[in-house]
Amino acid sequence: MRQFKRIGVLTSGGDAPGMNAAVRGVVRSAIAAGVEVLGIYHGYSGLIRGDIRPLSVRDVSNVVNKGGTFLYSDRCPEFKTPEGQKMALDNCAKFGIDGIIAIGGDGTFRGASVLSKLGVPTIGIPGTIDNDITSTDYSIGFDTAMNTVIDLVDKLRDTGESHARCNVVEVMGRGAGDIALQTAIASGATAAVIAEFETDVDALLKKMENSRAIGKRNFLVFVSEAMGSDYGPMLNKRINDEAKIDSRFVRVGHIVRGGNPSLADRVRASRMGVFAVNKLLEGKSDLVICERHGELVTTDIRYALTLDHLYKGTATEEELATFSKEEIDSMHAHAAERAARMKDLHEISELISL
Ligand code: ADP
Ligand code: F6P
Repeated sequence: MRQFKRIGVLTSGGDAPGMNAAVRGVVRSAIAAGVEVLGIYHGYSGLIRGDIRPLSVRDVSNVVNKGGTFLYSDRCPEFKTPEGQKMALDNCAKFGIDGIIAIGGDGTFRGASVLSKLGVPTIGIPGTIDNDITSTDYSIGFDTAMNTVIDLVDKLRDTGESHARCNVVEVMGRGAGDIALQTAIASGATAAVIAEFETDVDALLKKMENSRAIGKRNFLVFVSEAMGSDYGPMLNKRINDEAKIDSRFVRVGHIVRGGNPSLADRVRASRMGVFAVNKLLEGKSDLVICERHGELVTTDIRYALTLDHLYKGTATEEELATFSKEEIDSMHAHAAERAARMKDLHEISELISL
């Protein structure tokens, strides 16, 4: 079995609270196993530029509680090119990097797969507030981001109640409505308008008018980023003009990507960091760490990316043709489970909101 002397760790793509805790888990567990760790700064850009420094057990002190990523993050188009990949590979040889743990979203996993195929075993850890990686029930940062949203929206409710107003709140999530849906339930919102389900706006306006008629003063309506940047302002206008309810549009934006990670994210990130190192040292590669029903498991990156496409309805025939019938059946079952969970949450949101 391959002997590991030195591994690298990087964070890439959109930052997420809990990434630092994952890096700490990687560093401390690798060093405990007798393996040195190098921090690769600025994601794949740092690998290309050689922005690489050793991390000791003390270098990850005082980070478990901090948001953002002390390794910094980047989006690096150059790493998608053969020239960029060659420079990255040269640096792996120069710095003696035997394997890499890459923390980020699906783009980061594509990069990890490239490295694995080029001979540098790489394992991905899901770090994104969006929770849009279908293969894992939860990604690092999602829980914290949702807690930040409800904290902000609870404040909006106070002022909404004072002035008998509505707030239309757009939250991040890229293509996924997970943040919007769960925070809408947790904030007692009237609706979560997300791309995964049709929303009948006329019916929503009528519902709000009826609720106002029985004495409801404040309203919260959540809109996911995936609805497009014009959607929230448009809905806000219709609430003002047609339902005659004074309404303000709020885009919470990047604020929810920052802040100290929640307990759940700190524990999840620490577990995933340690688990990823164990798998790498066992000789595994080209995998993503996933949480399924509370357990940590691994999934081939290629499988995880196609499962994502299947769930999102973008999988091509050619892509699916490279998997066995059993694998495709298993992807369908997994995607159906996730869709059912969203449907269930959506129904609950509709049922108990006024
Ligand atoms: P996320 O990881 O959050 O999905 P991005 O999609 O921006 O964020 O991806 C992060 C980085 O991963 C990119 O900037 C790029 O460096 C690398 N990456 C993305 N796709 C590929 C690819 N097809 N091949 C190689 N590297 C990739
Ligand atoms: O993936 C995390 C995320 O914050 C998404 O919710 C959002 O669509 C995107 O990143 C914003 O990207 P940027 O940081 O480039 O503005």
